[in-house]
Amino acid sequence: MVTDFYHEPVMLKEVIDRLCINKNGVYVDGTLGGAGHAQAILKKTEGFLVGIDCDDEALQAAEKKLAEFGSSKVLVKSNFADLGNVLEKLNIKKVDGILLDLGVSSHQLDSAERGFSFSQQAPLDMRMDRSLKFSAYDIVNSFAQKDLEKIIRDFGEEKMAGRIARAISQKRRLSPIKTTMDLAVIAAGAMPPKFRHQKIHPATRTFQAIRIAVNNELDNIKLAISAAVDVLKPGGRLCIISFHSLEDRLVKNEFRSLEGGCTCPRDVPICICRRETKLKVLTRKALIPSSMETENNPRARSAKLRVAQRV
Ligand SMILES: C[S@@+](CC[C@H](N)C(=O)[O-])C[C@H]1O[C@@H](n2cnc3c(N)ncnc32)[C@H](O)[C@@H]1O
Repeated sequence: MVTDFYHEPVMLKEVIDRLCINKNGVYVDGTLGGAGHAQAILKKTEGFLVGIDCDDEALQAAEKKLAEFGSSKVLVKSNFADLGNVLEKLNIKKVDGILLDLGVSSHQLDSAERGFSFSQQAPLDMRMDRSLKFSAYDIVNSFAQKDLEKIIRDFGEEKMAGRIARAISQKRRLSPIKTTMDLAVIAAGAMPPKFRHQKIHPATRTFQAIRIAVNNELDNIKLAISAAVDVLKPGGRLCIISFHSLEDRLVKNEFRSLEGGCTCPRDVPICICRRETKLKVLTRKALIPSSMETENNPRARSAKLRVAQRV
């Protein structure tokens, strides 16, 4: 049993306000983590909460934290991309609100053995769901150099992707790259000296990229938004908190495209694209945490909240 699970929920008030929780509503928290948001949702409703996480430790911690809510909730181990099937199995047809608080929890980040952090020595892992067969070790040690470069460039938005991929490829020819520190040293060493002393650690983007690839994070977000649209009641809200620009851009673009509706040329007499407006975007600009929150919880610094309503 996990007893020391710690995660401070980010933008809690903003999320609870935007979800417009009603007395008998049904809500989905697709990223339970330490269940801070889930607990606040359950305190506001006499309805029902479906909590999802792909990490067993998060689920154990959430079970404990939410025990007082008895049968008002069910917690499920799953990928949020699969939320449609999760609800179908529970025989829930429609829901009033869905939250995705993306990324890793503080507990995951601080648990050295999970391999998410470059500041702690640990095996290269980075799987949120530890039953996945494929870890950071496999990507770093077996992907072709050009594929590694693409991952680091596309998912890390790292300008030095070519140099870092080349350094990884040279190093692993001598022996496998086994630990987080090994990878951090290689990534930092591949940078030209003037790039090594930036505001962020020189391995930050490489770690972000490999984590996204291991957990297929961007595809999962797209699938989850599409599933959310299918299960939200008209008027139901979808709140998504993202923590880096790739995620935020993806959420913004998916929301826009679901708001857009018909894309047929004006001179076509009837719609042939069959695209319908599914969402109304309620946050033209993403909401960000207050300065008080970021002072108290530096991990909230990069958070952005976008909210859309099912039409
Ligand atoms: C930032 S934490 C959520 C924290 C939570 N809102 C709280 O108040 O404690 C993100 C959680 O989402 C989970 N997660 C990330 N991607 C997931 C996915 N595709 N499917 C299911 N869970 C996921 C992680 O395992 C992690 O526990």
